[in-house]
Amino acid sequence: MSNDKLVIFDTTLRDGEQSPGASMTRDEKLRIAKALERMRVDVIEAGFPIASQGDFESVQAVAQAIQDSTVCGLARALDKDIKRAGEALRGAKSARIHTFIATSPIHMQKKLRMQPDQVVEQAVKSVKLARGFTDNVEFSPEDAGRSELDFLCRIIEAVIDAGASTINIPDTVGYNIPHQFGELIRQLIERIPNSDKAVFSVHCHNDLGLAVGNSLAAVLNGARQVECTINGLGERAGNASLEEVVMAVRTRQDIFSCDTTLDATQIVPCSRLVSGITGFPVQPNKAIVGANAFAHESGIHQDGVLKSRETYEIMRAQDVGWATNRIVLGKHSGRNAFKTRLQELNFEFNSEHELNAAFSRFKDLADKKHEVYDEDLQALVADSNWAIENERFQLVSLHVCSETGETPNATLVLCVDGKEVKATSDGSGPVDAAFRAIESVVHSDTRLQLYSVNNITSGTDAQGEVTVRLEKSGLIVNGQGADTDIVIASTHAYINALNKLLHSEAREHPQHGDV
Ligand code: KIV
Ligand code: ZN
Repeated sequence: MSNDKLVIFDTTLRDGEQSPGASMTRDEKLRIAKALERMRVDVIEAGFPIASQGDFESVQAVAQAIQDSTVCGLARALDKDIKRAGEALRGAKSARIHTFIATSPIHMQKKLRMQPDQVVEQAVKSVKLARGFTDNVEFSPEDAGRSELDFLCRIIEAVIDAGASTINIPDTVGYNIPHQFGELIRQLIERIPNSDKAVFSVHCHNDLGLAVGNSLAAVLNGARQVECTINGLGERAGNASLEEVVMAVRTRQDIFSCDTTLDATQIVPCSRLVSGITGFPVQPNKAIVGANAFAHESGIHQDGVLKSRETYEIMRAQDVGWATNRIVLGKHSGRNAFKTRLQELNFEFNSEHELNAAFSRFKDLADKKHEVYDEDLQALVADSNWAIENERFQLVSLHVCSETGETPNATLVLCVDGKEVKATSDGSGPVDAAFRAIESVVHSDTRLQLYSVNNITSGTDAQGEVTVRLEKSGLIVNGQGADTDIVIASTHAYINALNKLLHSEAREHPQHGDV
């Protein structure tokens, strides 16, 4: 039985976005934030406001839109960072500032070039400054996993006295081993005289594949907040994956004396949303959210599950949001059913125009595909080409020729700033030809960083979901497209990326520059 609440702090929009290539636009961050709120995540770390104007605006937009979760902004222990975070969070119903400074000998000596006394002084000053903006202040001693215990005790006691109510212990470089990390948390809580005045939190990276293991060991030793990301996205090898932490604690209530208040049925839709937006596919054997997580291949297993599900399943697929390939809609479904199902899947339309355009695409899809699954609907709305009025580039028509022994060729009509332009090109394949034809008109001078195609459901009539990642002068965007024809899906994805890049939605990766 659970006694305590385990706070879930999601950092998909901040640490998750630090995965190279996973940059998100403000609108994409908003969509993910709303999905996290619907899942009842307690704290959403929306970004690092000082990092760029784009990140500032994203945090601001999330702070204003979210009602039921606390919205958090990250800030180094520097006055300018904290003031910027405070400004971005103004107007939030519940705001938290998360400030950090490194405490390991290597970081203090080599990176900060500061003495330990100076680090403590800076941390205390920053927490006090942050308290001027909100009562809800979190402090992280960065690289705590390689810091000295006595120094950690000293700085943490001081920042709690200064007003920090959450103390987050990051294993920044993913160096720790579960029993050791659990012991670190236990010692900190035991030795710091005012530890009862704060919630202890952990933030583990996955460099040794131990982020979830370390987080759970910490929870067993008194941590009551876990920082995590959807699909384990994050810097380098990623962060602890939210879905694994939440389901481990919930499934093993015989061991944990705490539980989260998350709506776990939102896990799979949220995982899909993040994967679609970032272009980071989920590996099939990924726990909880991988396509095979609840699939039974061996005859013995299948036989066992048919006789009694518990023989080989420790969780129910539907409890984490798997819709068991339910056919939700077909060609006779109406606009209202379409809108309602998408609301259930976390998607809200911003205007009647968006709804109408999406519904018309749904009708086209239902004509081609007959059986439309939740996954198809999610891809249909993730492919935002149809949603944006007045985009610079729009695909009017596409004709491709692909024949054995012949060079593939594409001819397309693009609408550029309201004017139709025809273009044609050869290529090594039909997709290459279509991209070259677009470039013969647009001359974008971008670099293709990623091109990926995933089938959304099974069967040869399935939609292909395409992600195209383009880079130009340090700016990175992910474009999405979905269609039963993968050349059309690819063309949509390419045009979507170009529109984002030229729509000033793109911004420098948050890690670039000196931040
Ligand atoms: O990994 C880390 O140390 C961080 C901190 C900012 C908490 O992301
Ligand atoms: Zn981190």
